[in-house]
Amino acid sequence: MPGCLGFKDPLCFCLIASSMVMTTQLTGKDRQAFQRDPCLPGHPDPYWIYGALLRDSPVQWCEGPGLWVVLGHSESEALMRDPRCLRQDHLDKLIQRFGDERIFRRQQGDIPYMDGERHNRMRQHVMSAFSGIDLVALDRFCTQVINTCLDSVSPGSWFDLVNVLANSLPLLVSSELMGVPQELQGEVLDQVGHFVRARGLIQTEETAKDGDEAMNVYRRFFTPLIEKRRAQPGDDVLSRLLVDRKGKETLSNEQLLLIVSSNFYSASIYTVPLLISNAAHLLAHQPEVLEQLRREPALVEHAVEEFLRYDPPAQAINIGAVREPIEIAGQMIPAGASLTALVGAANRDPRAFDAPDTFVVNRHPNPHLSFAPGLHQCLGLHLARLEMRAILRALIERCHRLEVDESRSNRLVADRFRGFEQLTVRML
Ligand code: HEM
Repeated sequence: MPGCLGFKDPLCFCLIASSMVMTTQLTGKDRQAFQRDPCLPGHPDPYWIYGALLRDSPVQWCEGPGLWVVLGHSESEALMRDPRCLRQDHLDKLIQRFGDERIFRRQQGDIPYMDGERHNRMRQHVMSAFSGIDLVALDRFCTQVINTCLDSVSPGSWFDLVNVLANSLPLLVSSELMGVPQELQGEVLDQVGHFVRARGLIQTEETAKDGDEAMNVYRRFFTPLIEKRRAQPGDDVLSRLLVDRKGKETLSNEQLLLIVSSNFYSASIYTVPLLISNAAHLLAHQPEVLEQLRREPALVEHAVEEFLRYDPPAQAINIGAVREPIEIAGQMIPAGASLTALVGAANRDPRAFDAPDTFVVNRHPNPHLSFAPGLHQCLGLHLARLEMRAILRALIERCHRLEVDESRSNRLVADRFRGFEQLTVRML
């Protein structure tokens, strides 16, 4: 657990000690926790457990969510590109289980749940709307937002980085790009966790109900905006999504609602803050990383990739279900089974990365899987990278050292996502 070395917090010391004892052998409890939920939500350091399980086998059955978990890098990457893995079939199982009127039925029109030609067409449409974004202007906008957020903090004082900075940046970027008044967005931010969890690994009546409610809030929030832009298009992403560029896509309000709320808003305002908070936590525990970036700011780009590899916000990706039996690393997966790639484990696979448990600022190449390279590769990866680079530049400029108060920080405990709900830090 290199992130804690040299840290004075007794809790952290205990974690190091227990982690050092346990790295040699998994206990029955560790295995049970993995069986309940393979992402070990809220665990301070799931990676050594993933490592030990990966040594057992790169693909394992997991009882809790009732699916096959792929921990190996090459196996996960191959599946992300495999057209035999069908997202729609996985979703159909949820529709069957929870009934027709739930969020899962609506997700049929959502890009991550589409397959084949239909998925391709929709991806192209969204990509062309995103490609109109002026990244240079956006970079300037990010720097301004970050400066305003950090100027609001008195020098050397403790503040919650999630609240002050990590949540604000992607929210303001989204509102800028969509042309949405900033003050309208609080409700969406409140709901995003519920929306995103309705596409987690484990679904219960409660996650489905929260997802339904989030969808209703999104509908109330975005439908008037969509109608307004239809009547009066502007120069924003939402207006570009309405344009039928190649004469192939005529999107209904319902489809647009899903693209905007799921593929744009939820995709960015949930994941980017997690990446920022994980990175800040690491910088606080490994001051030499911040020091190296201060000496060599040109390494910021590599560092962003390493943050994504080392502690990814999305620990797992739903790969879909298979119609025919397939073989993965000698394991037969039966027809109808669902699969998930445990990215957090694959990103530390020693067969793909040297010194996988060490944060190497200038690691290159860095074939991490955090943006799901393959058929469903993240469409917002340029935006996420741009926002994270701007954050790192600001931290390098403003502080020699970042300290974290663990007693006033909380990890998010939420299915397949990893990061902080609260991260109390000070810049020195
Ligand atoms: C650190 C930030 C981010 C991370 C770690 C991340 C990660 C991912 C991952 C793992 C997937 C694959 C999901 C799946 O296969 O079901 C994905 C898909 C997607 N992401 Fe991101 N994402 C981030 C930010 C963003 C942003 C800022 C946007 C847009 C503004 C975005 C838009 C999308 C879209 C539209 C897809 C669906 C692609 C498809 O299914 O074809 N993401 N992202």
